Amino acid sequence: MSELAIRGGTPVRPEGYPGWPVWDEREIRAVTDVVRSGNWGGFPEPGPRAHEFETRFAAYQGAEHGVLMANGTITMEVALKALGIGWGDEVIVPALTFAATAYAPMAAGALPVIVDVTPQTWTIDPDLVLAAITPQTRAIMPVHLGHQMADMDRIAEIARAHSLAVVEDCAHAHGQRWNGKGAGCIGEFGSFSHQSSKILTAGEGGSLLTNDERLARLAHSIVDCGRPKDAEEEEVTFGANYRLGELHAALLVTQLDRFEEQRVEREETATYFERVAMQVPGVRIMPRDPRITRWSFYNYIFAIDPDAFAGATNEIVAAALEAEGIPAEVQYPPMSRYDLFQPSLSRLPVAVEFAERLDPSRMSFPVAEAAGLRESIYLMENTFRAGREGIDAVVEALAKVQANAGELERLTG
Ligand SMILES: Cc1ncc(COP(=O)(O)O)c(C=O)c1O
Repeated sequence: MSELAIRGGTPVRPEGYPGWPVWDEREIRAVTDVVRSGNWGGFPEPGPRAHEFETRFAAYQGAEHGVLMANGTITMEVALKALGIGWGDEVIVPALTFAATAYAPMAAGALPVIVDVTPQTWTIDPDLVLAAITPQTRAIMPVHLGHQMADMDRIAEIARAHSLAVVEDCAHAHGQRWNGKGAGCIGEFGSFSHQSSKILTAGEGGSLLTNDERLARLAHSIVDCGRPKDAEEEEVTFGANYRLGELHAALLVTQLDRFEEQRVEREETATYFERVAMQVPGVRIMPRDPRITRWSFYNYIFAIDPDAFAGATNEIVAAALEAEGIPAEVQYPPMSRYDLFQPSLSRLPVAVEFAERLDPSRMSFPVAEAAGLRESIYLMENTFRAGREGIDAVVEALAKVQANAGELERLTG
């Protein structure tokens, strides 16, 4: 008889974990109020609820300005456009992230220059950023992946020394702080996603944060068809409609009310997880950087050593954990092997030089490839909202899968 649930055994946690998103009458009331108001859209930009959210979220994160828009992909494109970055420019991005981070520079007309991540954090490697800088480089887009943050000290230093802009992709990092500064408040812009699975969600939506009043005004203009946002100068920009409607904004306001309590709960249980998960053979916990001074995360990433799991890679171990009732996933493949990253389908490779530099088959990212194809497993945020008992179940399931990894053999073929 098989032990593992994926082979027909009894799951460790059949009852699962709390659902996401969390909502009650407050969300229903907030949406109902918008419906009754008749003011459903995002025009004039920003709507009253969008403005309330922008102001409150920026303050929570520690930025002076927030600009709400349709999603956390457009945010990065708008940030680059506001910075005047486009055709002929290069933007450095990490090899391990959601495809959107590499897509955004291309959508702005620029070339994404992809560099590998560090084995300690799986975030962008500052030494490789340095090595990738050319006279065309205009910006660095670090990604705060999972529960980690990119080394913002080094990134900021490199950006200063080479006069580059920094756009932080904070789709996973609402609430994080680096040396006391909020994620997204260190570079010129911070980009956040409010898509369904993210920890501050309205189903869809994205926020840009900035401390620069002029950049905030430009971003507001770009998302609002280029309308001038400065009554005196009447500065028209090249924009389109990327506004978010008031129904979504109303949900974000209520979700922000819940956010800090959820963050604290996740932080407490994840701290416990880090202590107990180390006991499982073949599981590697990446040490948390002490410069992360307020911890918050969308999902938690750890590494497995396939050799300790009878050769099973992350995808199979995650599937086995899922079958045990644990919300485990493999999220991002390396950009060299990512089906959602298809630069040849864009018009950018029309230049031969770009075609070569954007060809994934010519790219090699040893660390991101090991992480994405063999080692990384993501525990979803709800894993950390079921108390210590929920974490004990994760560790029990990991130990069970490891001890019975021989049963995975037929799945690995
Ligand atoms: C790292 C990262 N960047 C950007 C995005 C894009 O956000 P959105 O789905 O809101 O466009 C995501 C969403 O999954 C993400 O994980």
